[in-house]
Amino acid sequence: MSESLVLAETRGRVALLTLNRPKALNALNDALMNELGEALLKYDADDSVGVIVITGSEKAFAAGADITAMKDWSYMDVYRSDFITRNWETLRRVRKPVIAAVAGYALGGGCELAMMCDIVIAADTAKFGQPEIKLGLIPGSGGTQRLPRAVGKAKAMDLVLTARTMDAAEAERSGLVSRVVAADKLLDEALEAATIIAGMSLPSVLMAKESVNRAYESSLAEGVLFERRVFHSLFATEDKTEGTTAFVEKRKPDFKHR
Ligand code: CAA
Repeated sequence: MSESLVLAETRGRVALLTLNRPKALNALNDALMNELGEALLKYDADDSVGVIVITGSEKAFAAGADITAMKDWSYMDVYRSDFITRNWETLRRVRKPVIAAVAGYALGGGCELAMMCDIVIAADTAKFGQPEIKLGLIPGSGGTQRLPRAVGKAKAMDLVLTARTMDAAEAERSGLVSRVVAADKLLDEALEAATIIAGMSLPSVLMAKESVNRAYESSLAEGVLFERRVFHSLFATEDKTEGTTAFVEKRKPDFKHR
C-alpha cells in the first residue's frame, strides 16, 4: 500500500495535516490535493475538532503545483478537467479556521495554499514566492489576486514578475504572514495558537472567520452591516450567556460550542 500523501492526526480539538511528499518538496499533485481536500472536509464536519493546522516538512511547506505532471498537459487537458479548481478550492469551503505552519519553501501553489489559510505562521527559514513566470506560466490558484490583497500591488508585481522569493522577515513586514517564529518552535507555536482558538466558542469562531473574510468581498458599509447581523445572532447562543456570565463571575468560561 502506498504511503499517505497527507498525514492526519488530532491533538485535542486540533487536527494536524502534514503534507507528506518530502522528496518532491511537497509538490502538490492531484493525489495529494485530493487527499488534502478529503481530510479538510472530514475535519470541518467533525464536531470534536475546532481548528485545522496544515504543515509541510522542514525544507518545504510546498514547492508548488507538480511541474512534472503539468509538463505534458495541453490546454484542453487543463480546461476540460478544470485544473486547480477541481481540487484546490476545497480549502475555501472549510468554515473552521485553518492555520498554515510554513517552514522552508512556499512557492507557487505552495504560497497560494498558505494564502488560502486563515493564519500563516512562518518559521524563520520560510521563503515565499510566485515563480511560475519562469515556467512560462502565471500563478493559477489565486496568487495574482490574494498576493496583492495581502502585500499590496508594488510587492506583488515584483514577486510575480521577477520570480524572486521573499524571506520570512520580509513576508511578515509585508503582511503576508501573521507571525515569524524560530524553526524549531514552529509546530509548537502553531498548535498553541490552534489550541487557543479551538478553546473559544465554535459559533463565534466560525462567524468571526466569515465576517473577516467578508472584508474582501464587500464595501465597508455592507461589511459592517454583515458584521452587525452576525454579532446580533450570537446573542442567541448558549456560549454567549456562558462567556459573559463567566466574566462577571470571574471564572473561566466552559463553552459548549452552541
Ligand atoms: N514540481 C515537481 N517536482 C518538484 C517541484 C515541483 N513544483 N519542486 C521541486 N521538485 C522536485 C525536484 O524535481 C527534485 O526532484 P528529483 O530529486 O527527483 O530531481 C526534488 O523536488 C528536489 O528539488 P530540487 O533538487 O530542485 O531542490 P533544490 O533545493 O535544489 O531547489 C527549489 C529547491 C528552489 C524549491 C526548486 O525545487 C524549485 O525551483 N522548484 C519549483 C518551484 C516552482 O517553480 N513552483 C511553482 C510551480 S507552478 C505552480 O505552482 C502553478 C500554480 O500556481 C498552482
